[in-house]
Amino acid sequence: MGSESFWSERRVWITGASSGIGRAIAERLDPLGARLALTARREASLRQLAESLSGEAVVAAADVSDLGQMQSAGARVAAELGDVDVLIACAGVYRLTDGRQWDAATVNEVLRINVEGVSNAIAVVAPSMVQRGAGHIAAVSSLAGLAPMPGGAAYCASKAALIALLDSLRLDLRQAGVKVTTIAPGYVDTPMITDEERQTLHDLVTADDAARRCCEAIARGQSYAAFPWRTRWLVKLAQRLPRWLYDRIMADAPPMAESIRSESASDVGGHLQADDAADDQRDE
Ligand SMILES: NC(=O)c1ccc[n+]([C@@H]2O[C@H](COP(=O)([O-])OP(=O)(O)OC[C@H]3O[C@@H](n4cnc5c(N)ncnc54)[C@H](OP(=O)(O)O)[C@@H]3O)[C@@H](O)[C@H]2O)c1
Repeated sequence: MGSESFWSERRVWITGASSGIGRAIAERLDPLGARLALTARREASLRQLAESLSGEAVVAAADVSDLGQMQSAGARVAAELGDVDVLIACAGVYRLTDGRQWDAATVNEVLRINVEGVSNAIAVVAPSMVQRGAGHIAAVSSLAGLAPMPGGAAYCASKAALIALLDSLRLDLRQAGVKVTTIAPGYVDTPMITDEERQTLHDLVTADDAARRCCEAIARGQSYAAFPWRTRWLVKLAQRLPRWLYDRIMADAPPMAESIRSESASDVGGHLQADDAADDQRDE
């Protein structure tokens, strides 16, 4: 089966669909005939996306780090779409964590969203997939999970944990007929990166290109997809260095900056309120 025809009539639940890679995946899969469910916290952005798509898409806003909200979102998806064939868990955040001013609240927030958030989505879809002996779980980790970076303690740890989580899950679900794909991009041009990174990074891929690679990897049933190739090979090389040499090289590297468009949970709470107000206005 061609990798594009794979998606026809597939019921696909995308988390992190309001922006960046998740949104680009939705826009890619819509014309291929996939039946979509969209989750993120900003409901108005999801609705705007759903309205721009040619097919119908279920909007199920939720905070992925809240299991109760994800269960409610999953129930809505199941009621309106049926059993999910493919989960693509893209929701994630980057927060700069300066080890000299360790902020447990920020670190825990990143771990909650990037790791527990994926675990919560899996908890919602896996039982029916296992029961049916079919389905596909994919999640977007990062090459940062394989290459520690200054300022990246929380993010790199969360993405390393996600790689281990998915790679172990794949072993458990192998006999159950459920596939698991671990996706590890390098830098992708989305609101997560800074304008400076956008101008200076040499190996930056577009969100559309990242979406295409994610979708192709899933359609082909790949266990693991890492891109772009230059960053992937640099990371492979870095992993072979003795730790003292890696530390020496990386200690002076600039920290991965936090995009000013990165929002704290409370900012997004503000968005949600603004979204609610916009929804109320539309209803009036
Ligand atoms: N951009 C890169 O260079 C890069 C590289 C490697 C991996 N990644 C990974 O790719 C994934 C997508 O990131 P992106 O680059 O597309 O960034 P983005 O444009 O900032 O998108 C992040 C998405 O996650 C959602 N999200 C964040 N926290 C959430 C929460 N608690 N509950 C529900 N949804 C939440 C956001 O929606 P709301 O704010 O509406 O909730 C948004 O839709 C992330 O997991 C990221 O770590 C990105």
